Amino acid sequence: MNKFEMVDVALTDMLVEQEDFLINALKNCADNDIPAIEVSPSQGKFLSLLTKTSRSKRILEIGTLGGYSTLWFAKGAGFDSEIVTLELEEENAKIAQQNFDQSPYKSNITIMVNEAEQSLKELVLNQTRSFDLIFLDADKNNNPLYLEYALQLSKEGTIIIADNIIRDGEILNTTSEDERVIGIQKYLERLTEIENVDSVAVETIGIKGIDGFSMSVVNKM
Ligand code: DHB
Ligand code: MG
Repeated sequence: MNKFEMVDVALTDMLVEQEDFLINALKNCADNDIPAIEVSPSQGKFLSLLTKTSRSKRILEIGTLGGYSTLWFAKGAGFDSEIVTLELEEENAKIAQQNFDQSPYKSNITIMVNEAEQSLKELVLNQTRSFDLIFLDADKNNNPLYLEYALQLSKEGTIIIADNIIRDGEILNTTSEDERVIGIQKYLERLTEIENVDSVAVETIGIKGIDGFSMSVVNKM
């Protein structure tokens, strides 16, 4: 382990006590060969505390994977919350549903299995109530598209967070041909163009390498 990873592990040991349903979710993901690209425990707890302090109750997550971050959101939002999480892969959704079923938040979480764009269209068409917090953590090439839907599903005060917006610093590479990097570059550019969002991005370093997330708050719609 390098120094940054050691510090992350030490801080997580000190401050992040994970309940069994979170630990078991990670184990179930590993046992079923889900790639270990979920948020770290400290990032998960950060998202959970942010959810709690912002009193966010309706959460939309784009990209469920095995549901680990979903469970941290649920913990922060509480038993009177509604969490909708979008996943393309049936196999991931199956494991995620198992993890939700084994948690106290089973009845708070709904997975929509489809291409995220189709699920987002459906949510917009059905005039679903706006969300308090939206987490973008799916195929990064589509981040600009997901942002447009996220805004349609927002209200004044909605928090929009995008994961993995640093990618080991690759976002500075203006000649990158990686569609994920290009998607994030366009996403950040779009944030500068939209007038009613106020945004910041934070670089993170730890057991998930060098990466980061952006946070945007929607002002008047
Ligand atoms: C990748 C995706 C993620 O959401 C993440 O947190 C880390 C890596 C990836 O696609 O490589
Ligand atoms: Mg991610």
